[in-house]
Amino acid sequence: MFTQIAYGGDYYPEQWNPEVWQEDVRLMQEAGVNRVSVGIFAWARLEPEPGRFDFSWLRQVIDLLWEHGVSVNLATPTASPPPWFSHRYPESLPVMADGTRLWHGSRRHMCPNSPDYRRHAREIVTRLVQEFGDHPALALWHVDNEYACHYAECHCEVSQAAFRRWLQQRYGSLEALNEAWGTDFWSQVYRDWEEIRSPGPMPTLPNPAQKLDWQRFTSDAWLECFQEQIDILREYTPEIPLTTNFMRFHRPLDYWKWAEREDLVSLDDYPEPDDPLWMARTAMLYDLMRSLKHGQPWLLMEQATAHVNWREHNTMKRPGVMRLGSYQALARGANGIMFFQWRASKSGSEKFHSAMVSHAGTGTRVWREVKELGSELKRLNPLLPGRIQAEVAILFDWENWWALEGGGKPANDLVLLPRLTDLYLELYRRNISVDFAHPEADLSAYKLVLAPHLYLVSEETARNIERYVAQGGAFWTNFFSGMVDSSEQVWLGGYPAPFRKVLGVWVEEYAPLGEAESNRVKTVGGKEFACDFWIERIHLEGAESLADFCEDYVAGSPAVTRHRYGKGTGYYLGTSLDRDGLSWMVEHICRESGVQMRADLPAGVECTRRVNGEQAWVFVLNYSKQPVEMQAPAAGVDLISGEEVGGMLRLEPYGAAVIQVKADAGGLIEGAASFIEIHIPTPGDAAAGTACVHLGFLCASRGNGRGTWRDED
Ligand code: GAL
Repeated sequence: MFTQIAYGGDYYPEQWNPEVWQEDVRLMQEAGVNRVSVGIFAWARLEPEPGRFDFSWLRQVIDLLWEHGVSVNLATPTASPPPWFSHRYPESLPVMADGTRLWHGSRRHMCPNSPDYRRHAREIVTRLVQEFGDHPALALWHVDNEYACHYAECHCEVSQAAFRRWLQQRYGSLEALNEAWGTDFWSQVYRDWEEIRSPGPMPTLPNPAQKLDWQRFTSDAWLECFQEQIDILREYTPEIPLTTNFMRFHRPLDYWKWAEREDLVSLDDYPEPDDPLWMARTAMLYDLMRSLKHGQPWLLMEQATAHVNWREHNTMKRPGVMRLGSYQALARGANGIMFFQWRASKSGSEKFHSAMVSHAGTGTRVWREVKELGSELKRLNPLLPGRIQAEVAILFDWENWWALEGGGKPANDLVLLPRLTDLYLELYRRNISVDFAHPEADLSAYKLVLAPHLYLVSEETARNIERYVAQGGAFWTNFFSGMVDSSEQVWLGGYPAPFRKVLGVWVEEYAPLGEAESNRVKTVGGKEFACDFWIERIHLEGAESLADFCEDYVAGSPAVTRHRYGKGTGYYLGTSLDRDGLSWMVEHICRESGVQMRADLPAGVECTRRVNGEQAWVFVLNYSKQPVEMQAPAAGVDLISGEEVGGMLRLEPYGAAVIQVKADAGGLIEGAASFIEIHIPTPGDAAAGTACVHLGFLCASRGNGRGTWRDED
């Protein structure tokens, strides 16, 4: 799928006149651009009136690009229906839970279940593939744009009916639905399918199983839109790969299901430059993207060269940061680096978003960086077949995410991503490569599997974990895991019932702590750590305690446990440890499970490795504003500079090296990152000006799940 590292960006020729197109292709050549995405929001130009299509201008553009060595990700334009469409079919506009119908004039203003939208989308996609399916420039189908961005759920009457049909398919009968939803609670028993509606505004908590099914349905409704386009594109061009651009850990869509349908995972990523942990968060996100198609190369479809314009205050990527971030994507399995967008718009709501060619043209710092990166990437093509090898997997399941945060819980401030991030950071700091895995996936390749807050556990997951541990795997989970089944019904018989055998413990009761409350744990080795948020009364039934609570009514009872099961081990953590405690625990279980770690790199340096048979590429990335001198983690040739590397390696501020080595050469490191020194101003620290903290420390201060995570969009 990749014969060279793809380099380029979203290109909107419809916003410019044909003279500018000529300049564009010339500049693309100058910058080493070999791929652009076209057509993304061009519906109004491609079908100016219902049923009248005009592809001539796009053909001119694609021909021109191809003549200049640029191939295309051809987008289906369905992410923004033209005004004539919304005007003709007002009932296709989406309805929010409170009944508000959104207007057109922006983008993504359509109900996924609207038959008119679906029909017109199929029509334009069919025309597009008929028109361009055999064009030699066509490298990849870019289906729609960021499904379920801006809003995900439509509550219109058409969607209500679609939800009922979806439920009929899932359950077959109302008896089965009533059983699964537990509708005897609060007199919710349904006697007619027509009585069922989405969980819209209600006096108090909705039925959790209904809500969970609504979220499943919402993801599936958009997936159906995607599938309809896939069917058409595959029918005409079975040989052209297709993708749709994903967004972060995007809650509304179950990306496991989505990734199965596409040939390539692609991602739009806009880290906040002002966030001192941006590189750790992108590392985690990139690891997810790589994992969604089980290690296959993925494409960074969009990123900013400098700044976005949709945050309240849009900070700038400093010189060198765009380049460094691009290398980070390659280091974690991407085979292409692309941007939103090629040329900064002169009108429209994104005109102040950065681009490869800015308003000032080419005499700019950004253009120089774009050109330099383009020329460097040409030297990196040898690494295309390289893959990441991970010994640790984190279980991540959208259904669990929806259910865990669905309300009505003992601690409704138990939010998954901040806690997942804290855990990930402990691995990141130790140079441990991490994959994400679905809980029902084959886990046998991993030495250690971590399941943070895996609240919802299907029968298949329970069997999978049992098998994995029995056969020698190490499994770790923590409080409020293994609580409910796929219908959000409690697994009875002592928490966490589905993992009880593997963990060798049962939990009699849990106790969320007050804001000001905390506890301590003492390890068998005599170390003490603070904990807060949640404590439990844990009973051992085969497991041993690795750390006991020290205070309150649980004093002397286990907080962290280990259990030998079959040939493997099950670990359980029944509280929220502070940063040092979490660090101790991760270190402990990684050592015991034989996971390779390394945390002796200079501050701010991250290393990863891509491997292909005997060949490996070691990425050394310096996130600090200072140059670093370090022992080279591997000997070989730095593909960026072309220089031999061995002995000492010097990296400039935000510098990068990609060392091509033999995989069996000595001294290779395994994983990701080291401590990162971060300077953040603290109030009252005027004299010192800044306070220096370590990555993990900062993270722990954000990591109690009490709303300190900024969830954008
Ligand atoms: C993406 C989107 C692009 C553009 C970009 C701006 O989410 O796909 O069309 O809006 O954000 O950052």
